[in-house]
Amino acid sequence: MSQVLIDLNKDSKLPSAWYHVGSQKILDEILDDIPSKEVFLPQILSCLEQIHNLIKETSTHSLPTGLHLGRVGRLGAIIAQRAQLEWKERLECLYGGWIHDVGKIYIPEHILNKPGRLTKEEYELIQGHVTYGCELLRDYPHLQPFVDPVKYHHERWDGNGYPHKLKGLDIPVTARIIALSDAYDAITSFRPYPPYQRTHEEAIEEINRCSASHFDPHIVDVFCRITQEEIEATL
Ligand SMILES: [Fe+2]
Ligand SMILES: [Fe+2]
Repeated sequence: MSQVLIDLNKDSKLPSAWYHVGSQKILDEILDDIPSKEVFLPQILSCLEQIHNLIKETSTHSLPTGLHLGRVGRLGAIIAQRAQLEWKERLECLYGGWIHDVGKIYIPEHILNKPGRLTKEEYELIQGHVTYGCELLRDYPHLQPFVDPVKYHHERWDGNGYPHKLKGLDIPVTARIIALSDAYDAITSFRPYPPYQRTHEEAIEEINRCSASHFDPHIVDVFCRITQEEIEATL
């Protein structure tokens, strides 16, 4: 049985729209697996506070992006748990997922929410969120262990991602997981243009179609064994 070591609900800094009961459970389960918690706990807590502030800032700029950060981190941590990763990588997926798009603070909201097709220039500007996020996080030395999902979540298994064009196992596993969690959330979330919002089944179909091209096929297999109910509990 997990013990509540960090009470997320008590933290008044947490944006209420972002709070999700699943966050507590997932973080608590990771903490349960740390052999000597007293060594790591102060740093884990101080990182959580910094992450809260970053999510708050992102939510103020773009609430849909802030909410997306919450869901992608939770789902990423569930995938990492099912892939039987160690607590450090599970925490990296949770925390790294929570900050993966923090660079979107620098992208004008009207471009983030633009209905319809983006121009080439707008698309390139949005792609810059990866670099902007990494630059922003240089001011947060304690968050460096969680930067891989920020830096590499738009890399693709086949090497056609951005900005580093890493391929296959050269992409850190936490970033391969967040890439999938990110895509699932993007597919199933409402968008102001057709097809607006796709179902869980449609998302699974799309993810399977992109296995071994966009996504790590092993992570896709792990993901497809998670039930719809389990995934929806993290949303
Ligand atoms: Fe992104
Ligand atoms: Fe994202």
